[in-house]
Amino acid sequence: MSWVSRPLNSSIGCKVIMSVTGLLLVGFLLAHLSGNLLVFAGEEAINLYAKTLRDYLPILWLLRIGLIVMAVLHIFSGVKLTRMNSKAKPVKYKVKQSVKASFASRYMGLTGLVVLAFIAYHLAHLTFRFTHPAFQSLGDYDVYKMLMLSFSNPVLAIGYCICVILLMVHLSHGVSSLFQTLGINHKKYNGLIRSIGPALSTLLAIGYLSIPLSILLGFIK
Ligand code: HEM
Repeated sequence: MSWVSRPLNSSIGCKVIMSVTGLLLVGFLLAHLSGNLLVFAGEEAINLYAKTLRDYLPILWLLRIGLIVMAVLHIFSGVKLTRMNSKAKPVKYKVKQSVKASFASRYMGLTGLVVLAFIAYHLAHLTFRFTHPAFQSLGDYDVYKMLMLSFSNPVLAIGYCICVILLMVHLSHGVSSLFQTLGINHKKYNGLIRSIGPALSTLLAIGYLSIPLSILLGFIK
């Protein structure tokens, strides 16, 4: 297993693992959003989507395992990288040199932790359905009613929105650093490349926020 452990022992190896796994996790976010947006197409559409996923259970499990491996590698290499960085500069600066660092880059660890806690809650909420006893009486594929029951509660809807915004702050910086790590740059297009992270996270934020907000405000009934 040295092909896995070796990259994790160097700073650049950790950065590459973070970038590649981060990219695949963004792919999941895009796919998950396109499925969830079916809620705007109505009860039948989103419930059929949930049922179709279950009809291909072995493929679903393959994807789930891939997702878990990506998430574990992403977190592990992130923790390792932070440790290596703090070992490399053991003397704490008297004045924090963070003037140039953006808000997103300074709080990658914190926003990452919030995302992790959000995912744990989200799985308990909509996948395992532990948080709402009322879900137990719904059919297996009644994702539509689960979403309606959940996001008509302002605390839950706003809580989801806050977590989505923090995830997008995390992603905005992550995608920009990913290009740097993978050496994707071109004098002429650097401005464009730098704007991909913020643009992608803004689009994802609009998509993800639209669901709890539309239900809370009664646009979807
Ligand atoms: C706010 C908008 C979101 C909505 C409405 C939503 C909706 C859902 C629903 C309905 C499920 C259960 C699907 C089923 O069992 O058939 C689910 C599962 C899941 N969601 Fe979300 N989600 C949202 C945001 C997110 C975000 C931002 C992430 C990642 C950070 C995420 C990650 C997941 C994961 C990992 C699963 C488990 C997938 C599986 O094992 O099948 N979701 N989501």
